[in-house]
Amino acid sequence: MNPQFQLLPEQASTTAVHVDHLSIYLMVVAMFFSTLIFALIFVFAIKYRRRSEHERTTEITRALPLEITWTVVPFLLMMVMFGWGASVFFEMSRPPDDAMNIYVVGKQWMWKTQHLEGQREINELHVPLGRPVRLTMTSEDVIHSFYMPAFRVKFDVLPGRYTTAWFNPTKPGKYHLFCAEYCGTLHSGMIGWIYVMEPAEYERWLAGGTGAESLASNGQKLFEYLACANCHRTDKPGRCPNLTGLFGTPVTLTTGQKVMADESYIRESILHPGAKIVAGYQDIMPTFQGLVSEEDLLQLIEYIKSLSKQPSMAAPTLGALPPGLQKRGTTAGPAPRAQQKKNP
Ligand code: CUA
Repeated sequence: MNPQFQLLPEQASTTAVHVDHLSIYLMVVAMFFSTLIFALIFVFAIKYRRRSEHERTTEITRALPLEITWTVVPFLLMMVMFGWGASVFFEMSRPPDDAMNIYVVGKQWMWKTQHLEGQREINELHVPLGRPVRLTMTSEDVIHSFYMPAFRVKFDVLPGRYTTAWFNPTKPGKYHLFCAEYCGTLHSGMIGWIYVMEPAEYERWLAGGTGAESLASNGQKLFEYLACANCHRTDKPGRCPNLTGLFGTPVTLTTGQKVMADESYIRESILHPGAKIVAGYQDIMPTFQGLVSEEDLLQLIEYIKSLSKQPSMAAPTLGALPPGLQKRGTTAGPAPRAQQKKNP
């Protein structure tokens, strides 16, 4: 066979082989029954054709064993599809606990990826071999879909919420990245590459970056710059909840309802502070919609996460704009708001 011709893309992740086995099963079942049904139609059309004007069909009253067979056999075949499909689906939708987190922001028409260590990439993603990677994804504008055929990962990327997908690469190499949801004129150009590297090589790549600071530390600067620490205090009871140790814990709201403090909750609380008010607090926080970009939000979330991981990393007090932020060029807007927040 022509080596260029491939029925399925290369298998380069742990789940790829499971997805392929399932789709081969689906294809075999569909092809077997399509062939059988068409062959029977053909055979019966000839065998039982009407031979004369006066021919009458004999009346068939019952063929119970036959009816049971053609009900039970397809039922069992489809229950296999259901059970097998569900198990592959669960595998694909539950990232392992030790997965490394990478953030993905889609926008017309590019993919922006960010590593926790601070490296940012555009239309590229470098990952180490043999380590599960969890993608936390959002969009700045319309719906996109993050599609890496070799890893059998295709997941919608939606504005206004986080979706997650994961994969564990099994082969070093360079793999296609596509956008699989029509998102405007240059949708077909919203493509890129995934580089799977040997772990040591990946460490070198990570270290040899632009000296970028970690997402959490950029988030901390942003937290100071936006004057969040004015109300979210750690040293004494503030007007807003203390964020230390918050991430990943349940929060009781004024309605008595309990919600999990995850990425989506924190995102919503920054953009729509009034949506979920923590019990014992008032609806006084202004919205930061329009002041922070999706990437800023991810940094703030990482900072709030870091407050849970390392109790020693105390929340900062309000300080002057750190020099690092001027380089970022994305936060020209918030200054007046930060001033305004000092004298509410
Ligand atoms: Cu983004 Cu299509």
